[in-house]
Amino acid sequence: KKLTVSPIVEKGSSSGFINKMKNTNRNVVVFYGSQTGTAEEFATRLAKDATRYGMKGMVADPEECDMEDLSQLRDIENSLVIFCLATYGEGDPTDNAQEFYDFLQSGGADLDDVKYAVFALGNKTYEHFNAMGIYVDKRLEELGAKRVYEIGLGDDDANIEEDFVTWREKFWPAVCEEFGVEPTGDDSNQRQYTLEVMSDIPREKTYHGEISRLGSFVNQKPPYDAKNPFMAPMTVKKELHKGGGRSCMHIEFDITGSKIRYESGDHVAVYPINDSKLVEKIGQRLNTDLDTVFTLTNVDEEASKKHPFPNPCSYRTAFLHYLDIQSPPRTHILRELAEYAEDPKEKEFLLSMTGSDGKDQYNEWIVKDHRNIVAILEDLKSLKPPLDHICEMLPRLQCRYYSISSSAKVHPTSIHITAVLVDYKTRTGRQVDGVATKWLSEKVINDDQKHTIPIFVRKSQFRLPFKPSTPVIMIGPGTGLAPFRGFLQERDYLKKEGKPVGDTILYFGCRNKVHDFIYENELNSFKESGALTKLHIAFSRDQNKKVYVQHLLNENKDEIWNVLESGGHIYVCGDARNMAREVHSTLEQTVVEKGNMDAAKAADYIKKLQSKGRYSCDVWS
Ligand code: FAD
Ligand code: 2AM
Repeated sequence: KKLTVSPIVEKGSSSGFINKMKNTNRNVVVFYGSQTGTAEEFATRLAKDATRYGMKGMVADPEECDMEDLSQLRDIENSLVIFCLATYGEGDPTDNAQEFYDFLQSGGADLDDVKYAVFALGNKTYEHFNAMGIYVDKRLEELGAKRVYEIGLGDDDANIEEDFVTWREKFWPAVCEEFGVEPTGDDSNQRQYTLEVMSDIPREKTYHGEISRLGSFVNQKPPYDAKNPFMAPMTVKKELHKGGGRSCMHIEFDITGSKIRYESGDHVAVYPINDSKLVEKIGQRLNTDLDTVFTLTNVDEEASKKHPFPNPCSYRTAFLHYLDIQSPPRTHILRELAEYAEDPKEKEFLLSMTGSDGKDQYNEWIVKDHRNIVAILEDLKSLKPPLDHICEMLPRLQCRYYSISSSAKVHPTSIHITAVLVDYKTRTGRQVDGVATKWLSEKVINDDQKHTIPIFVRKSQFRLPFKPSTPVIMIGPGTGLAPFRGFLQERDYLKKEGKPVGDTILYFGCRNKVHDFIYENELNSFKESGALTKLHIAFSRDQNKKVYVQHLLNENKDEIWNVLESGGHIYVCGDARNMAREVHSTLEQTVVEKGNMDAAKAADYIKKLQSKGRYSCDVWS
């Protein structure tokens, strides 16, 4: 049964998205809160799904919409609003959902008769798993809206694609029930973009990796931000490990003249370029000239996104700069690819991974073997998708964030990072290199070659106490040391200026004293200058039994308690998966023992520290 949607346009209605829905006969709107594009991708897939049920969907960015108008959805017959919302950092909304979050928190609107559902995207290794999605799901109900299906909780630490597909399989039947509709059987893969090959376009009119403004990489204009990164000369690159088989790089970017300001604790984002060997492989395998310049234009004229990435550009530019060719593709990509398998067995194989029975197969063949698009094309020989369709399917290549490891007080014209090289072998023996770290590692700095890297600074909440006299404990094993190098530079600078600087205690951890004790000399100098009051180091592999930072914290409960009771701050940086959690429970245990509290009271004490900004984490997985 098809739904009828009122096509009447209400004159004078101010609402952008409501008007657009009415003008274009749509009854489903999918909002996304996305930082790296996954939530946006899921939103697009859900909006596309709607056609299968005789509904018509559109995707919308809450930042570009007046969210107060949500209540007007009740004026559109059989309407539904879906939210795909990622949680970022310490339970925060993504940048583009911040205003919407503030709006809900400060009251929201009367949402009686509005029907909704939420799919949340998060990562279980973080403490505030899916906090944003959970909050919105609850808040919309409080405001009177009707939940048509229970919230989906996607976990990026496991397999978020599987979580999404599983949720979606149950979600649409619930929608059918709610609205009295049925699948229309329209399962065709519709192309979202049309291709135009541009043969005679001058070079200066084509994009070459710019994020937004044409020519911005060459013709640089501040202010610099995510859409307009600064091309920072890479002036220093040093290996910090001394053997041991792994690599950790100290890199310095020159920001002279850029007007970029930063504070210790901020992050710097780097826009990497894909491995050109992989890009050439794609061109050869699909027998396409990578110099072909093209434009992809959205068939939906109403769509806010006219092109999937800046174009016109060449295929080479698209694959080097704009597309994520190194992550394992999600199932909807496999489904679209399957159309181009000439061998029916290969087609069936690809399709088998996209349904509910294929999750194990997908997990085995794609996830565990880390098969990216290049590997799939290599392994399935009959697969011949056109290059432009691949450009449409693949997600955007994302910038990578690094905790700034310098202090602007000491280095106002440079930004330092401390990055571990990602390279490993899959169980089938294929070499996998981290996109950004491998790209950075290959840059050789000498007088003949100047390398400029597109960067921008993202402000963080990870800040030294306002008063330098406040004592601090910093816990950062491995590259978790990065922001604390900045903190130490800053405290050292203030101390040298004659300011009273409180106790500065660092817990660092690494495998062995000889190999990966990074910045050893600098830490020793900070100790000598008195900027670093105490240095506790856990060398995990220098003895039979593992020693980690939390074991050392456990031995120093009195010291921690004293710092806490004297108003001090605690910082944790590095691995979110295990370290940050284990440190957290060690801190809770300390509060239980030293503060004579039960577990609930101790948890509350820690929560208060967090809300007062006295216990902050800068963690990633
Ligand atoms: P990618 O191409 O993105 O590959 C990394 C992915 O490969 C991982 O996500 C994982 O899925 C997979 N992978 C890696 N190793 C293995 C393995 N052994 N087996 C199987 N799969 C594996 N990094 C730093 O080094 N220093 C920092 O100071 C720092 N700060 C950060 C701050 C924030 C806020 C965030 C979000 C991240 C930070 N990171 C930091 C991580 C950094 O952003 C990148 O994720 C990291 O450098 C890898 O990027 P890449 O492009 O080289 O690797
Ligand atoms: P390992 O590799 O010997 O297990 C920086 O990576 C340091 O963090 C290493 O010494 C590493 O030890 C250690 N590490 C690994 N897992 C950890 C955990 N769960 N908590 C704290 N440190 C950990």
